[in-house]
Amino acid sequence: MKRIAKGNTAEIFEYGENRICKLFYPEYPKEYIRHEFCNATMAWKLGIRTPFAHELIICNGREGIIYDRIIGEELCRKINVKNQTSFGIWMDKFVEFHKRLWQHKAKDAMDYKDFLRMFATSQETIAKINLLADGNGFIHGDLHFENVIVDEDGNLVLIDMMNVCKGPALYDIARTYFLLRYDADIQNEYLKRTGYILENIAPYLDVILAVRGNEMKR
Ligand SMILES: Nc1ncnc2c1ncn2[C@@H]1O[C@H](COP(=O)(O)OP(=O)(O)O)[C@@H](O)[C@H]1O
Ligand SMILES: [Mg+2]
Repeated sequence: MKRIAKGNTAEIFEYGENRICKLFYPEYPKEYIRHEFCNATMAWKLGIRTPFAHELIICNGREGIIYDRIIGEELCRKINVKNQTSFGIWMDKFVEFHKRLWQHKAKDAMDYKDFLRMFATSQETIAKINLLADGNGFIHGDLHFENVIVDEDGNLVLIDMMNVCKGPALYDIARTYFLLRYDADIQNEYLKRTGYILENIAPYLDVILAVRGNEMKR
């Protein structure tokens, strides 16, 4: 199989004409892989633009998921801070895409507070998590520019569903804000477009920072 990409959790190989095989690294827990498969199936059923997950497979002792292949390029290839006009256009598209995701109700997904509590190591953090708002919105949990593919028609397509949960939009905004921390300008441009300010996401950011070190390596 020809490798076409490499992520933090898996390598991506061509699989026939129109599919890819996401083959996870050997040490990756099997239950996480099944969890991603279920999340991807759920997202697809909700009508989110995402590749269909066909099946779980084992290849050379490694577990993998067969997905439809998206022909296009990662959004990070389009986001160029040196070209202000194009930067603004793609950031607008990214945030519009994110806003549409929150509108989906993900009642069958894991509750984001349960997800966070799995990684909390102190009573103080658990107490903070308990105080956060509840919600049923679709939370991707790992929404950054490498997890969005721009297809041949210019549509944004969502991939990498390991961290999907249900929860309030502010939690996912805080996660994306955190994931964009390598560039403060991009962070601020992102937050500005969501219509929120730092104060709104602060309680979520606080907890994300507290548990991040214990989350599965991504
Ligand atoms: N269905 C797909 N079609 C085309 N390319 C894909 C597909 N899924 C993943 N990729 C490519 O592989 C990369 C890594 O996949 P991803 O699911 O994000 O793995 P990881 O969990 O390791 O981050 C993506 O950023 C993308 O470039
Ligand atoms: Mg990824």
